[in-house]
Amino acid sequence: MIVRGSGMFVPEGVVTNERLSLAMDTSDDWIRQRTGIGERRFARRGQSSSVLGAEAARRALADAGLEPRELDLIVFATMTPDHYFPGNGGLLARALGLDRTHAIDVRMQCAGFLSGLQISDAFLRSGAARRILLVGAECHASFFPWSDADWAVLFGESDGPISPEGRAWGTAHRDRAVIFGDGAGAFVLEAHAEDDGRGFQGFLMRTDGTHWDKLHVPGGGSASFPYFSADMCADNRTVPIVEGRQVFRLATTAMPEIVREILTLHGAELSELSLLLMHQANLRINEAVQKSLALEDGRVFNNIQRYGNTTAATLPLVFHEAKAAGRVRRGDLVGFTALGAGVHWGAALLRA
Ligand code: ACO
Repeated sequence: MIVRGSGMFVPEGVVTNERLSLAMDTSDDWIRQRTGIGERRFARRGQSSSVLGAEAARRALADAGLEPRELDLIVFATMTPDHYFPGNGGLLARALGLDRTHAIDVRMQCAGFLSGLQISDAFLRSGAARRILLVGAECHASFFPWSDADWAVLFGESDGPISPEGRAWGTAHRDRAVIFGDGAGAFVLEAHAEDDGRGFQGFLMRTDGTHWDKLHVPGGGSASFPYFSADMCADNRTVPIVEGRQVFRLATTAMPEIVREILTLHGAELSELSLLLMHQANLRINEAVQKSLALEDGRVFNNIQRYGNTTAATLPLVFHEAKAAGRVRRGDLVGFTALGAGVHWGAALLRA
């Protein structure tokens, strides 16, 4: 399987650390030191994850030189779908003018795009599909209860002040509010016909459900009875819980381990890896993974500084930007790794 085309789209609304500091008790220093993030993009009302994903998809199709009707499968990874159901796959197909093309929804959070790659590879290898559009897109802004007036302050369009309720909510959720950002990325994937060794070499995916509660949304779902209630909104149980320190530990252990494992499985040495593209949850996590694998700075690429953690959109964003920067050259061995809520984690190897 090869990446015939890639594309990305991030909403135009930039929220800097300084602006976030108006909406909660935090600081640019704290956010940069603990996470490496300088700013992030946030979607506005109307920029749902399927809307962001459709724009990234159009760009990936243009990059591939293909029309939507030339696709025979859509795979959409997101943890912030437009609706609880149906999923975003069908909405994206509709946005692209398709009404017969099968669409699959993947809900595996930060590991969603990686899992979508493995699913796509299996479809292509089996011959069940010939050309697949894989999209990862997120609209985390929709978790935040800030008013339009508060958002205008965050986007630097008003001097405010932020409402007292907006600031109280921000401070109570500051550990999570500073790490996420919105965006979308897409790949057009095809089976590689030539016998030149290029393409994805393989995938390794793992799940440990015993850690399900380290990253989860407590309210909204069949474990709540009823599914949704006014109480769960009032108590903020519809907002993700992030056990930050524990996830940090899991990520810095599991990601280097699985990268080593997939290299061994494919008979490759760490020294042959030209570039490692990691999920972007925290720059300090990625620095620890880089150190653990003894990779020089030229063999990793991070963009969390500008986008924060964009969950399922991260890997295509980081691949697209690394490629645009000339960091993915033909013949390079490129590794991908991610860990996220579930917990799910994994790695992939691509001969570019
Ligand atoms: N600004 C200022 N202070 C803060 C902020 C903030 N934004 N957030 C937390 N603090 C304070 C805490 O209140 C605490 O104060 P205290 O010592 O007085 O109690 C102190 O900072 C330390 O808090 P920790 O939560 O221990 O901070 P930590 O250094 O662990 O950083 C962070 C938190 C950034 C969340 C980090 O743990 C992390 O990045 N973890 C991994 C992120 C993650 O879970 N990603 C998963 C992907 S999401 C997915 O899959 C959907």
